[in-house]
Amino acid sequence: MQQYSKITPGIFTALQQIVGEGYIFTDTEHLAGYGHDETEQLVFLPEVVLKPRTAPEISAIMKLANEHMVPVTPRGAGTGLSGGALPVHGGIILSMERFNEILAIDERNLQATVEPGVINEIFKNAVAEKGLFYPPDPASKGSCFLGGNVAESSGGPKCVKYGTTKDYILNLEVVLPTGEIIYTGANTLKNSTGYNLTQLMVGSEGTLGIVTKIIVKLLPHPKYDLLMLVPFRSLDEACAAVSEVFRSGFTPSALELMERDALDWVSRYVQSNVVKLEDDIEAHLLIEVDGNDPEVLMKEMEAIAGLMTRYNIADVLFADSAAQKNELWRLRRGINEAVKNNAVSKEQDTVVPRAELPQLVKGVKRVGKKYGFKTVCYGHAGDGNLHIRLIRGDLTEEQWEGDHIKGAIAEIFTICKELGGTISGEHGIGLVQQEYMGIVFSEKALELQRSIKHVFDPKNILNPGKMFGVGA
Ligand code: LAC
Ligand code: ZN
Repeated sequence: MQQYSKITPGIFTALQQIVGEGYIFTDTEHLAGYGHDETEQLVFLPEVVLKPRTAPEISAIMKLANEHMVPVTPRGAGTGLSGGALPVHGGIILSMERFNEILAIDERNLQATVEPGVINEIFKNAVAEKGLFYPPDPASKGSCFLGGNVAESSGGPKCVKYGTTKDYILNLEVVLPTGEIIYTGANTLKNSTGYNLTQLMVGSEGTLGIVTKIIVKLLPHPKYDLLMLVPFRSLDEACAAVSEVFRSGFTPSALELMERDALDWVSRYVQSNVVKLEDDIEAHLLIEVDGNDPEVLMKEMEAIAGLMTRYNIADVLFADSAAQKNELWRLRRGINEAVKNNAVSKEQDTVVPRAELPQLVKGVKRVGKKYGFKTVCYGHAGDGNLHIRLIRGDLTEEQWEGDHIKGAIAEIFTICKELGGTISGEHGIGLVQQEYMGIVFSEKALELQRSIKHVFDPKNILNPGKMFGVGA
């Protein structure tokens, strides 16, 4: 186990000199506020919270941290679901909240340069005003930071047609764990120059560097979209219908699954009655198409609705106004919080090739039965990316925190692996999934990743205890 130093009065004074007096915090409110994210009920208190404003400040912090062996945990908005921003070894929380400027929207090249503390939705809206589109849209888009999105390669409903965060990152300015400041690539759509450091950084969960500038690719904004909600009498059939949509030649701009309880709980939680849940409905698919020609879209939607009638479905709800669309999306986006508030639960971010979705769900239900808990499934079915909330129910504290639940999670992840999938589609490994990495990677593949971490961060001071085992 690595030995880290505490923050001595001398280190504190040096940090204060770097960020300025107003941007270093040790009060209990700050320590508690920055000691958790959205992962379960986990809390790890930092010793100090820093709010730097420039890359050179972060560079100086990292050099000091290296010199004194102080762990540093970078943090965006704290909306993560795998514990990536939790300071498990104490030390410094490096909040990126003051990096909150959109530096340039380059309409000539359809690109933008943006700081990592900009909220996803604020950025999306700013580029939309210029007729441009930044597709990645995590459920937390109203609060999550773009820097956190880069760290996790976050997704969201639109990614089924447009790809995830990784598909939009052209270049990054990064402060390395050892304090040097680099650019990872170029502001180009194509790049065959050297190793792909940009994509190595994307999804590295704040373990290889601290992103200080992001250059993203943008698209022209689609002009129209249509949305429908399809109720299925069988969860299995809802899952089977997903891959049929694509096989039949359609690429919807969203194809989301909501199991009955998910929609039921969120409707109560956000007090919406837009969806009447009949007793015999097991799941819904929320399907969106977008594009520039309303007639083409209408035909596409009708054809997809036609495909759905091959299954045992109830009446389809076609959203007929912007207000109704917003309401359906409010429900979908609210599920995670609603389920979390409704029951003690643990979330798994499974992903499989989409035609294997029915097998995954069958396997999950089987494991739940075997281990004595209920599951609630929802998420980006079109991507084969299913969020599974394990509900504690009657499990004892020992079962819920110990080998019992871990055995169940390992079984679910083994099913993912056997179906050609993996253990996280968009939430990352962070703290809580690291013990399952061995299910999907060989020892050699893990060793390669640890070696990469070592090259970037020889003293293991940047976000230690994440991805590869606490203390690694
Ligand atoms: C969602 C988040 C949890 O899709 O990823 O709701
Ligand atoms: Zn999601």
